[in-house]
Amino acid sequence: MYSKSIVIALALCGYATAQDFGVPLSWRKFSNTRPLNERISIAQAAINAILPQLNSATAEFNGIGFWQSGNVWSVLANQDRIAGSTVNQARVIANLNTAFRLNANYDKFQVCPPSLKPLHALMCHNEVQRRRYVVGNGRDTWNHVSNFVITPAQASAGRHPAKSFTLAGTCDGKSMAGGVFWRPTADDQGVNSVTTGLYLTLSAFLAEITGDQKYTNAAIQSANWMRSLNINSKNLALDTVNAHDCSRSPDSWIFTYNSGKLIEGLGVLSHVTGDNQWDTLMANVLIASTKGAPWQGSNGVITEGSSPNSNNDGVGFKSVLIRGLHEAFERSSNNDLRILVHSYVDVQYNALLDLAANGSTYSSSWAGPPQGFTTWGQLAALDVMTSAINAN
Ligand SMILES: *[C@@H]1O[C@H](CO)[C@@H](O)[C@H](O)[C@H]1NC(C)=O
Repeated sequence: MYSKSIVIALALCGYATAQDFGVPLSWRKFSNTRPLNERISIAQAAINAILPQLNSATAEFNGIGFWQSGNVWSVLANQDRIAGSTVNQARVIANLNTAFRLNANYDKFQVCPPSLKPLHALMCHNEVQRRRYVVGNGRDTWNHVSNFVITPAQASAGRHPAKSFTLAGTCDGKSMAGGVFWRPTADDQGVNSVTTGLYLTLSAFLAEITGDQKYTNAAIQSANWMRSLNINSKNLALDTVNAHDCSRSPDSWIFTYNSGKLIEGLGVLSHVTGDNQWDTLMANVLIASTKGAPWQGSNGVITEGSSPNSNNDGVGFKSVLIRGLHEAFERSSNNDLRILVHSYVDVQYNALLDLAANGSTYSSSWAGPPQGFTTWGQLAALDVMTSAINAN
C-alpha cells in the first residue's frame, strides 16, 4: 500500500507539472490598472465606432462578410452581459430577428459555420431573452446543423444521408462520429474543426440551458472527434479532415479560431458535466494556444490576421480565440488558468491601446502601427475590449 501511494503521488506531481500555467515573463505588458468604468467605456466606444457601418436591412456591416458580422452581434450581447447593462440589447435582438428572417437558420451560403455564429448573441442576454432564443432560433439552428453531423451508425454504415460519396467510417483508426461537415453540399467532403467546435459549443450551451441530455451527448461526441482526430501533438487544433479518403489539410494550417472554439466548447462542456477529462483537455489546448502557438512571437502579441489594407476571413479569427479563452476564464475555478488568460488578454489589450489605436478605432495589426478606421480591424478588436472588462 505504501509504495502504491508513492506511485500515485508521483503520478499526480507529474500530471501537475505537465500543465504549466505560468505566465511567460517575455510577454509585453500582461497587466493593467485601468478601472472598471474605464474598461467598460473603452469597449462600448469600440462598439459604437463600428455601428455606422451597419446595414439594418440585412443586419450586416459594410466592409466585412456575413459570418464576420455574426461575430459583431456576439460581442454586443457579451458587452451587455459583462457590463451589466442593456445598452446594446434592442439592437442585437432587432438585427438577429432580421438576419434569421432573411436567412433560415442564419445559413446564407450553405456553409454551416455562419449558421452557428450568432450563438453567443442568442445565449447571452437576460434569462427571458435566452429562453426565447433557445426555444426558437438556437434550437432550430442546432436541428439544422445536426443534419450534417456524422453519427456512429452512419460511420459504421459508411454512408451519410446528406452526402453523395462513400463515407470513411474511421480515419487513422478513429471513428469519424461527431465530426461535422462544414458545407451541406452533397459532394463536399470536408469535416473541419471550426464547424465541429461551433457545434460542440452550441450543444453545450443548449445542454446547460435546457438540461436536455441529447445536447450533452452531442457535445461529448463532437469533443471526442476533436480529441481523437483533429488535435496535433502540441495540443493545437488542426483544420480539416476529408471524410471520404481521410486526407488532411496541411499541418501548417494552425489557426487561432480552431483552438479558440474548441476551448470555448470544452469550457462549457466541462462546466455542464463536471467531468474532469474535458477540463484537462481544455486546459491543454488553452496552454498551447497562449504559450506554444505559431500566431505570436515571444512578446505574446497575436500577429495572425494582420491586414491593414484589405479584409479577409482570417482577420477576425483571433477574436474567436479571445472569446473562447474568456469563456473558459469565466467558467473555470482554476486560479492559475484564470491568471494565464487574464495576462494573455491584457497583452492583447495593451498592444491594441498602445500600438494600434487611433482614438477608439483599431488596426487589425495589433502590433501596430495605427491607421484609419477599417471595419475588419474594428471587428477583430471588439472581443479583446469586451473581454478585458472582467478578465481584470
Ligand atoms: C486616424 O484616423 C483618421 C480617420 O480615419 C485618419 O484620417 C488618420 O490618418 C488616422 N491617423 C493615423 C495616425 O493613422
